[in-house]
Amino acid sequence: LSAVVDTPVVAIDGPTASGKGTVARQVAERLGFHYLDSGALYRMVALAVLRARMEADDEARLHEFVSTLHFDFRPEGAWLDGEYVEEAIREETCGNLASRLSAIPGLRAALLQQQHDFRTPPGLVAEGRDMGSVVFPDACLKIFFTASPEIRAQRRYKQLIEKGMCVSLEAILQELKQRDERDRRRAVSPLQKGPDALLLDTSALSIKQAVVQVLEWFDTACPGKS
Ligand code: DC
Repeated sequence: LSAVVDTPVVAIDGPTASGKGTVARQVAERLGFHYLDSGALYRMVALAVLRARMEADDEARLHEFVSTLHFDFRPEGAWLDGEYVEEAIREETCGNLASRLSAIPGLRAALLQQQHDFRTPPGLVAEGRDMGSVVFPDACLKIFFTASPEIRAQRRYKQLIEKGMCVSLEAILQELKQRDERDRRRAVSPLQKGPDALLLDTSALSIKQAVVQVLEWFDTACPGKS
């Protein structure tokens, strides 16, 4: 147990396209820490539910189903039960179902242990919505990322256009606002900044600037941990 408690965690939370994913990955690399993309776990569950043609609101079955899934992160992305699924889980259908599933208390509870298992030496950078508030409340550094909806929609738009997809900026902005609203209003682990988290507004920051800021905060908040 003490090895777990001694293993430092950096908890990075915030809404979609706030920059937290890219920044968290780079911070983990710089510190030589493990990396947990908890949103990808919810997306992988969504993919598995879609493939199994399961009813998404059967809470008891969902709990059992999730405990049989095996999640892994490798440099190239997410793996589910030994299959590379990074591209499949980024589809909007998976994102939307993940957002709906994540409002189910039993599902969040089922994923708790799976998330704790990622905490192994020398340390972990965990990214999501409730890393600092629920999953790793004893994280030595907690940061809440934010950026204006317009900037976040533009970032997402650019990503999708680069992938060769045909999308409208206005539709992305609307969908992003809807998803924010749902993530914020749900009763369990709503998306919000905790009182002990530092706020990082990335609207006017480059990825590099955000990484530097997080590493600076890490040195102050978690001395001797890297
Ligand atoms: O970060 P993302 O867009 O990949 O996450 C997909 C969905 O999963 C998001 O709509 C909310 C949910 N999620 C969550 O409820 N808790 C987390 N820790 C991470 C993601």
